[in-house]
Amino acid sequence: MKSKQIILCSLLASLTLTPFVGVADVVDDSHMEWWREARYGMFIHWGLYSVAGGEWKGKDYGKEQGGASAEWLMNSAKIPGAAYRETLAPKFNPTEFDAAMWVSVAKESGMKYIVITSKHHDGFCLFDTDATDYNVMDATPFKRDVIKELSEECAKQGLKFGVYYSQFKDWYHRSRGRGNPGTLTNDEYLALVEKNLDELLSNYGEMAVLWFDVGGSNVIEADAQGARVRELQPNAVICSRLYSRKVPKEEQKYADFESLPDRMLPARRMTDDTETCMTMRHNWGYDRSDDAWKSEKDIIEFLALCAARGVNLLLNVGPTPEGTLLPEETERLKAVGKWMEVNGESIYGTDYSPVDYDFWWGAMTRKNKTVYLHVLEWKPEGITFNGIIGKPAKAYFLADAERKALPVQYDGNGCITTIEVPAKMPDSRDTVIAVEYDSAVKTDPAAKGTYHWYTTRSKRHTEIRSSRNAGQQALPQAVKGARH
Ligand code: GLC
Repeated sequence: MKSKQIILCSLLASLTLTPFVGVADVVDDSHMEWWREARYGMFIHWGLYSVAGGEWKGKDYGKEQGGASAEWLMNSAKIPGAAYRETLAPKFNPTEFDAAMWVSVAKESGMKYIVITSKHHDGFCLFDTDATDYNVMDATPFKRDVIKELSEECAKQGLKFGVYYSQFKDWYHRSRGRGNPGTLTNDEYLALVEKNLDELLSNYGEMAVLWFDVGGSNVIEADAQGARVRELQPNAVICSRLYSRKVPKEEQKYADFESLPDRMLPARRMTDDTETCMTMRHNWGYDRSDDAWKSEKDIIEFLALCAARGVNLLLNVGPTPEGTLLPEETERLKAVGKWMEVNGESIYGTDYSPVDYDFWWGAMTRKNKTVYLHVLEWKPEGITFNGIIGKPAKAYFLADAERKALPVQYDGNGCITTIEVPAKMPDSRDTVIAVEYDSAVKTDPAAKGTYHWYTTRSKRHTEIRSSRNAGQQALPQAVKGARH
C-alpha cells in the first residue's frame, strides 16, 4: 500500500532532483491506475450457502440466530463438511444464471469492476479445478464454470474482473479442530491453495483483482501466495487481506490496497489506497429472511462519503439459488447508475477531500481545479465551506446540463466560500455542486474543522445488538454536530 502523493513526490524527486536514481528504484504502481479511477465495484457472494439461504433444518442462522452472515452457515450451524456438501451441492443448479445480465447490471450501476467469491470459507470452488472434486463442475448438477462465464463476459463488456479467495479459512478441506478434521492434511491444503491460485491466474484471462480474505499469521505463506500472483498476473491488484491484520503494514509486502474491516467508513480521509466493502442488507450471501435493505439514498451517500475519504466502494450482491439478482438489488443498482450518469464526474478518478474534515452538509471530493460538494443535507440559506483559498471561478449543479452559474461569495478572512442555492434540494439523495477554480485547488494550511459523517463500531451493531458476531451492517449515521 503506497500513498498516492508519496509516490508522486518520489517519482518527481527521482526524475528531477536526484537524476542518479535508476528507474528500478521508482515504485511502479501503474497497475493501480484503473483501480484508483474506478472508485466503485461489485462484490458477489455466491456459492453452496446460497442454496440454504441462511437456514439449516428449519432453523434460521441469519441475523436472528447470532448474527453471522448467511455464507457462514456451515460454521454457525456446526455442519460437518460431508453433510454440508451432500445436502447442498446436489441442489446447486442455478439454471437462470446469466453472466451477461449480471455484468450489464453492474455496468448500468456505474461499477467498473467485479469481484466474485471463487472459494469462500466453506471451501467450495465455483470454478473448474483439478485440486479438489468439491467444485461446481464435479460436485453439482450445474456443471458450468461460473468464473469462466463471468470473466469472459466482463472482458466483453469492458469491466475489470477479479476473484475473492478464502486462502486461510477452509472449513471443508482444512481442519477446524474440535472433531472437524477436514479432508486434507495441512500440507495437502497448502498445495490445494497453490494449485487453485495457479488455475485462477492462468485460465481466466486477465485477473484484475485478487481479493484474498482473512490472512493467517504465517507471513511466509502469504508472501509466497502474493509472489505467485505477481509472477502470473503482474497487473493484478492484491487485497491486504492476504495478510492477517496483525501483520504490520510495512511488512505486507504484496498488498496493493488496504481492505478496511467490513462496512467501515473510516473516521477520516485515507491518503493510501483503500477500499471498503458494504452489503445492501445485513448478509453477504443470499438470505431468505433478511429484509434490512438499505435505501438508494443510503447507498449513494455511502458511495459519496467513501470517495470523499479516498476509499473505493465494493458493493455486495448475494444472488439467489436460481442464479438471479434480486429485484431489490437490481432496482437499487440501477438507481445508483442513473445518479452516476450525471454525477459520476464527482466520483470517478477523484481524490480524497482537500481538507481533513467534512461539513454538516456533507463532504468534498476533488479533481484538478474542481472541488465537488456532495451535499447530503440542505440549507436554503446557502452551502458554506472553509479551507479552500481563493474565490471560485464558477459553481454549478453537476446535474444541470446547462451548468448555470450559482452565485458565489468569498471571504478571504478565513477562506470562507458560500454558494447560494435554491430553497428546494434538487436531489435529496446527494446534490453535487461543482466548484471550479482558475488554477489547481489550494488548501488553506490554517483550515480547521471536524468530521460529522461516520459510522462507529457500536453504531454498526445497534440493529442486532444481542450478538457478538452481529453484523456490522451499517450506514453512515448522519451525526449532526455543531455547525461551523
Ligand atoms: C468477512 C467474512 C466473510 C465475508 C467478508 C466480506 O471476512 O468472513 O463472510 O465474505 O468479510 O468482506
